[in-house]
Amino acid sequence: MKLTIVLTSTRPGRVGKTVADWFHGYAQANPAGFEIGFADLAEVGLPLLDEPHHPAMQKYQHAHTKRWSGIVDGSDAFVFVLPEYNYTAPPSFINAVDYLYKEWNYKPAGFVSYGGISGGIRSTETAKHLLTTVEMVPIKQQVMIPRVADHLVDGAFKPTEIHEKSAKSLLDAMARWAKALKSMR
Ligand SMILES: Cc1cc2nc3c(=O)[nH]c(=O)nc-3n(C[C@H](O)[C@H](O)[C@H](O)COP(=O)(O)O)c2cc1C
Repeated sequence: MKLTIVLTSTRPGRVGKTVADWFHGYAQANPAGFEIGFADLAEVGLPLLDEPHHPAMQKYQHAHTKRWSGIVDGSDAFVFVLPEYNYTAPPSFINAVDYLYKEWNYKPAGFVSYGGISGGIRSTETAKHLLTTVEMVPIKQQVMIPRVADHLVDGAFKPTEIHEKSAKSLLDAMARWAKALKSMR
């Protein structure tokens, strides 16, 4: 089964890239049975939703949607690397989710969240509401990184023991859920 890590922050100078690079390396070293994929929404390059039909119809008109559909359809589980913007999830994430429907159904979603003192927890809670509507299963285990700026050393994210322990719990739980949900598809 394939787990795709989705880097959701797209802005120039984003901290998300350093966090995602750490988690990607961690998951490759501790894959919990998954093949590990990586998608950077800045590279996926989706404009604000520009498809004329409801995504459930899968009548996609644009090459960018077909590419994104292929990535999501080919994955069994997702970990979203998610910042907090104004107590909510970033618009790049919401837009990328809205583009598709069936490709997300009955797949587990985990989070590596970060931000100021909240560690992105409010962002994650809003994201869960969205994801359950596209029939995903958000899981409880999570890597939360409060005060993310304090963990940057020479431009790289330096994890603490707690971050690494949470990453292991997250990947182990993802593997259980991915297996269970595969039988529903
Ligand atoms: C538009 C915007 C809104 C933000 N709002 C919050 C917030 O509500 N809570 C928080 O903890 N941090 C907030 N921050 C700080 C971000 O969590 C922090 O800048 C983080 O680095 C953003 O992720 P990124 O660099 O990957 O884009 C905000 C940052 C931006 C750019």
